[in-house]
Amino acid sequence: MFKKITSLFTAITFFAVTSFGFSASAQTPIVVKLSHVVAENTPKGLASLKFKELAEKKLPGKVQVQVFPSSQLFGDAKELEALLLNDVQIINPSLSKFNRYTKKISVFDLPFLFKDAKAAASFQKSKEGQALLKSMEDKGLIGLAYWHNGMKHFSTNKDFRVPADVKGLKFRIQPSDVYESFIKSIGGSAQKMAFAEVYQGLQTGVVDGQENTFSNIYSQKFHEVQKTIVETNHGILDYMVVVNAKWWNSLPADIKKGLSEAMAEATIYNNQIGQQKNDEARKLIVDSGKAKVVKITDAQLAEWRKAVAPVYAQFEKDIGADLIKAAQSHSLKK
Ligand code: LMR
Repeated sequence: MFKKITSLFTAITFFAVTSFGFSASAQTPIVVKLSHVVAENTPKGLASLKFKELAEKKLPGKVQVQVFPSSQLFGDAKELEALLLNDVQIINPSLSKFNRYTKKISVFDLPFLFKDAKAAASFQKSKEGQALLKSMEDKGLIGLAYWHNGMKHFSTNKDFRVPADVKGLKFRIQPSDVYESFIKSIGGSAQKMAFAEVYQGLQTGVVDGQENTFSNIYSQKFHEVQKTIVETNHGILDYMVVVNAKWWNSLPADIKKGLSEAMAEATIYNNQIGQQKNDEARKLIVDSGKAKVVKITDAQLAEWRKAVAPVYAQFEKDIGADLIKAAQSHSLKK
């Protein structure tokens, strides 16, 4: 009996140490794995490294942050599951990748909802935006912060300007039902695909086009296998930094405080560099002479907006009319 109790105790202790990894002595730092899918020289890649630097400075010898870029540890398909299993402690997926956990967050995917990245950031800071950070707690996920990348643009392997030109083309999308409907509304077909597979998908012609920010297009070399990038500014690519709620809530108070402070500072840093990294990448793409970068006229933009109207009607119930209205109000601000 005693033996049974002892082994049960050992098993529980082992579970606590291996699952949550912070029961070690003062000499053994808590290892915090942070995994993401983009390159290091991007707004998210650089902010992840900044978080590591700040956290280790604030908690010397107490934490070790290991950053894994470019889907090296987990790609899109696995990272949320891995977080819930505590195989990784922090991830920062794009807002389009939480589709399975909450419908409300799809508000960020509605086409042409935000007039620019500032409007999206303003909504994120609002009461409704902040509430979305907490909207997945019942699924075991806590949002610590929003991080920015920037506005997205369409690219394809042909010359195009308006929806009529992309009719019948196949586009890679993130795992978002709103995007699936969006692509249908412009006459294309959509294929959900992990970020790490997009370059090859474009190169081999499995898909004809994709939509992303300049920083992702440049760092993944999509411009080398695409003909035209049209500056549609049709949606925001931002991120939610999320942690496993059980892991986070069981951290010692000083560790939680240090990590929260490091996150707040890394978030400020991320917000400062987002626009700059995208501007730099745009210039590098133009200078490369590979894909042609074209601006869109007001009349062409009106064609895009007209085409996507049914997407709003389709998702209004899932997302909530009030939430959509609240998000839209930030684009009306001067
Ligand atoms: C994508 O899948 O296109 C993006 O979400 C990648 C990223 O994390 O920026």
